[in-house]
Amino acid sequence: MKIRTADWKNEKHVPVIHVKEVKFNEPIEVTVVVGEEIPHPNQPDHYIAWIELYYIPENGETPFQVGRAEFTAHGEVKVWTEPRATFTVKIPGPGKFVALSLCNLHGLWMGEKEVK
Ligand SMILES: [Fe+2]
Repeated sequence: MKIRTADWKNEKHVPVIHVKEVKFNEPIEVTVVVGEEIPHPNQPDHYIAWIELYYIPENGETPFQVGRAEFTAHGEVKVWTEPRATFTVKIPGPGKFVALSLCNLHGLWMGEKEVK
């Protein structure tokens, strides 16, 4: 499966990463959103299934998985989980966050944000 990083058509799949305030060795809030500018469909036959967040240290050490959020309600019983997740994480130094998201129809998508 190919990981896509640029969007097409009228839906937004690329996960956007927001870091509230960059600090090292202290808890920081990292929010990942799919469909921030143009909402992605959230219905039983077309939805964002999950978001994963990784931290990749600048020094080339192994990437770490920060967390994963699964979205399991897409309007089947009039409940919708929005494709956004906030993780609280402590990181040791500069690097980047990488987020992956999976659309059940359009595959795997990736977004990145450097932290310095
Ligand atoms: Fe999609």
